[in-house]
Amino acid sequence: MKKTKVICVMNQKGGVGKTTTAVNLATAFAAVEHKVLLIDLDPQGNATTGVGKLNLKYTIYEALLHLKPFEEIISKTFLPFLDLAGSNNELAGAEIELVPVLDREKHLSIALKHLKSNYQYIFVDCPPSLGLLTLNALIACDFVLIPLQCEFYALDGLSRLLSNIQTIKKTFNSNLKILGILLTMYDKRCLLNQQVAKNVRDYFKNIVLPMEIPRSIKIAEASSHGKPIIFYDCKSAGALRYLELANYLLTTFNWNSQV
Ligand SMILES: Nc1ncnc2c1ncn2[C@@H]1O[C@H](COP(=O)(O)OP(=O)(O)OP(=O)(O)O)[C@@H](O)[C@H]1O
Ligand SMILES: [Mg+2]
Repeated sequence: MKKTKVICVMNQKGGVGKTTTAVNLATAFAAVEHKVLLIDLDPQGNATTGVGKLNLKYTIYEALLHLKPFEEIISKTFLPFLDLAGSNNELAGAEIELVPVLDREKHLSIALKHLKSNYQYIFVDCPPSLGLLTLNALIACDFVLIPLQCEFYALDGLSRLLSNIQTIKKTFNSNLKILGILLTMYDKRCLLNQQVAKNVRDYFKNIVLPMEIPRSIKIAEASSHGKPIIFYDCKSAGALRYLELANYLLTTFNWNSQV
C-alpha cells in the first residue's frame, strides 16, 4: 500500500468552507473505496455532525490528551470506507489542558502514529484559528489545503498564513507541503468574486486549484441535514464540483510536485 497522505484543511478565517471541503472530499474519496479517516479537530464539531454523528462516547479530545488509544475513539460512519475521529465542545478545553504538557504540539502526530497505516487518506478539519489545535494538525500532516472565499478581505491574512506554514515547515515538519488554495463560495455572476479569483490566480499561480466551488444553497441545506452535499443532492452544482475536485486529486494531481 502507498504511504498514507494526511491532509489538513485550514484557514484561520472563519466560515470559508473548511468543514464542507473536508467532509465532502473525505466522503468522495471513501465512496470510491479509498480507506479514509476524517478527523474533526474543531470544538464546534461541524465535521462530526456533517457526517451525521451525534453524542459520541469518546472524541478526539481523549486521543489528543493521550487518555485513550486512538483506535478506541474512532467511529464508523454511513460509508464503509470512511471512519471518523469526532469532536464536540469538550475539545475547547484541550487547548488549555495541553499548555503545560511536554511536546504539546506533537500530541496528534504521536497519537496517530500506529494507526496511520490503516488509511490511505486522512483529512483533518481545523478550527478557525492558529492555536495549539491547528499547530498539532500542521505537525501531523503532509499537505495543507486552504479554502479561500472570493471576497474583499480574503487575501488579508493569506500571505501571513503561508509564511506561518513555511515557519512550521522549517521548525517542526519538513514534510509539510501546500496541496493548494481552493476558491470557495464562488458566484460567477458577482464581479467582486471574479476579480478576487483573478487576483488570487495571478498572484499565487499554480498553487491555486483549477476548479472553484460555487456558492450553492444546497450545500448550506446539506450541512443542516447532517449529510455531505454529494449524498444530499449529488446532481447539484456544488456536489458536482466537489466530485470533480476529488477526481482531479485522485487521478491528475501530482502530489510530488508540491512545495
Ligand atoms: N459553496 C457553498 N455555498 C453555500 N454555502 C456554503 C458553501 N460552502 C459552505 N457553505 C456554508 O457556509 C457555512 C460555513 O461553511 P463551513 O462550515 O464549511 O466553513 P468553515 O470554514 O468550516 O467554518 P468555521 O471556520 O466556523 O469552521 C456553512 O453553513 C456551510 O453550509
Ligand atoms: Mg469548520
